[in-house]
Amino acid sequence: MSRTPLALILQTAMCVLSTQAVLAASAPPVEVQSPGKVLKVTFELRDGVPTYRVSRLGRPVIETSRLGFVLRQGPPLDRGFKIASTQTSSVDEIWTQVWGEERRIRDRHNELVIELTESSGDPRRLQIIFRVFDDGVGFRYHIPAQAGLDNIEIAEEATQFAFTGDHRAWWIPAFEPNRYEYRYTDSPLSKSDKVHTPVTFETADGLYLSIHEAALVDFASMTLWRKQGNTFDVELVPWSDGVKVRGPVPMTSPWRTIQIADSPGGLIDNYLILNLNEPNKLSDVSWIKPGKYVGIWWEMHLGISAWSSGPKHGATTENTKRHIDFAAKHGFDGVLVEGWNVGWDGEWWAAKTNFSFTKPYPDYDLVGLADYARQRGVRLIGHHETGGGVENYERQMEDAFALCQKLGIRAVKTGYVAHGQNIQRTDEAGQTHKEWHHGQHMVRHYQKVVETAARHQVMLDVHEPIKDTGLRRTWPNMMTREGACGMEFDAWGGENRNHPDHTTILPFTRLLAGPMDFTPGIFDLTYEEHRPNDRVSTTLAKQLALYVVLYSPLNMAADLPQNYEAKPEPFQFIKDVPTDWDETIVLHARIGDFVTIARKDRNSDDWYIGSITDEAPRTLEANLGFLDAGREYIAEIYRDGSDADWEKNPYAIVIEEKRVSSTTKLPLRLAPGGGTAVRLRPATPATRPAGEGAPPTAAEAE
Ligand code: NOJ
Ligand code: CA
Repeated sequence: MSRTPLALILQTAMCVLSTQAVLAASAPPVEVQSPGKVLKVTFELRDGVPTYRVSRLGRPVIETSRLGFVLRQGPPLDRGFKIASTQTSSVDEIWTQVWGEERRIRDRHNELVIELTESSGDPRRLQIIFRVFDDGVGFRYHIPAQAGLDNIEIAEEATQFAFTGDHRAWWIPAFEPNRYEYRYTDSPLSKSDKVHTPVTFETADGLYLSIHEAALVDFASMTLWRKQGNTFDVELVPWSDGVKVRGPVPMTSPWRTIQIADSPGGLIDNYLILNLNEPNKLSDVSWIKPGKYVGIWWEMHLGISAWSSGPKHGATTENTKRHIDFAAKHGFDGVLVEGWNVGWDGEWWAAKTNFSFTKPYPDYDLVGLADYARQRGVRLIGHHETGGGVENYERQMEDAFALCQKLGIRAVKTGYVAHGQNIQRTDEAGQTHKEWHHGQHMVRHYQKVVETAARHQVMLDVHEPIKDTGLRRTWPNMMTREGACGMEFDAWGGENRNHPDHTTILPFTRLLAGPMDFTPGIFDLTYEEHRPNDRVSTTLAKQLALYVVLYSPLNMAADLPQNYEAKPEPFQFIKDVPTDWDETIVLHARIGDFVTIARKDRNSDDWYIGSITDEAPRTLEANLGFLDAGREYIAEIYRDGSDADWEKNPYAIVIEEKRVSSTTKLPLRLAPGGGTAVRLRPATPATRPAGEGAPPTAAEAE
């Protein structure tokens, strides 16, 4: 557990420490250490081949691994180099998130820029930039502007990650039809093949590693391919013609990231990915508001209503009003309505051109409902399901977001339901091609949506997304996304539904990339009437704990209004829990087994705790030492009943209050598939000086 020291004074130091003249191909290794001397990166040209390795406190973490590219045209750009120059610099600064799981983030790293030049022929140049933090490493490539290289096509990225052993790994497969929606496999890395990132490893000597990327812009996304031994090669997701990345020079790759911690929790309170992204580009962020929403959604996944028109149509004016009234009564910010727009009839996921993003079905009074909601202090949340028809969407996108802005719709959920390599693209010659969700073509599309939405002051919740690489720092309207199996898999997943351990793996894998719209909060856990072969694999208390454990700035209360009204006491927790935090602390963590997270509300002195377990019952103890010393708090505890069990008795819940303080050790008894959710609200005034820990001022936010 590490906490950003609140008193740390904003401090930036940029200084060029060394520049060397041209070194020969056999030059000695170049080293750069992290500021606290925890991590060390060594760059070395071996017979002209660029390589790097990483160690932690003297022990190797990544063995000598290759770097570079293979281009479609010309010789490969991964050999025959000499070092033209090296340059180091340092940064130590604190920046403030517009919203997030941690308000103030410290960026403290040492940077090493290596400029390579080919030693023969018409020498081409390549830069490799390393940033070394105490808790991780990022490196990226920059191909500078140079004569003879105008437009390039990358055939392969040569980057490798050579691990020191056959580590235990948590991974999902890449290049499969269901995008990122697979259950995580927990196996030795030698049992994996092509995997998505973030991918997480545990070493035999107790280190935890996560490989991912940061700032994925106009590039193909990176997967890892274990070809031999313990080494993964980068495998970029290709265009349909096999090219990985195309574009003009200068060209900069995303950062390749290695988070390194000596505990699983150290991967969670690790802000490497955000630190490697560019600062906020939006000058006005007053319209960006985290919050909670309900919606006409779960009823469709249970088959009670339908997206398509007809007698079962869910998105009717009447049903939407009922949801708006419910949201207003219970203090929710938004109402998501799926199936509101023309195009859902027939096989919508196969038809790529049917959806209108501006035309509602006749039984849905879009304009009237937007007004009705606004008058009650609630906003409609728009829904743009593309079915993978991104050209159809791009043609309408401008009008669609302009309509949202006009109607006061401040958030839109998008969707890209299409299997595998099935995104249609038409080239200039009118030929159609099928692209992956995760190649450069779609990375460009997803980015276009973020920027178009921002121009119209719309926040985004992307389903079937490109994975998060921290762009929310640069575009803080990019709120949340799916990109893993969410709650919907409990509605219809059958054998593929989320097992009790799923949410104890997500915080250490998918969530390391960024927030997830998991859509928790199911109170009717078994729904035999609608889906006799499906159910939720948790207790009721665990559903509450997920609001704290799985961070999302837009967070859904996913169940039907009547199911919440039937259980008002546990529902109170969902009403209370914030979506924007000051600080996050990991109290317990074992990947795939259990996790406890404490977070402090950004807008009050309240703290919240979420603790969850897999199928095994556990008793943990939460040390409340993070509370203000000398202050008393009321702990509102929502815990599993003594005989609770996700399979046999999921509804047994005890809601009780205790007086606690920073010296309390709070026992957490988690049932099989269970959890505990706690709100800690001060019972006595603060003893600390006024102003400390206050919400950020507009000037302080990026
Ligand atoms: C898949 C999304 O994950 C889900 O939330 C949505 O309801 C359907 N697509 C339809 O758009
Ligand atoms: Ca989905």
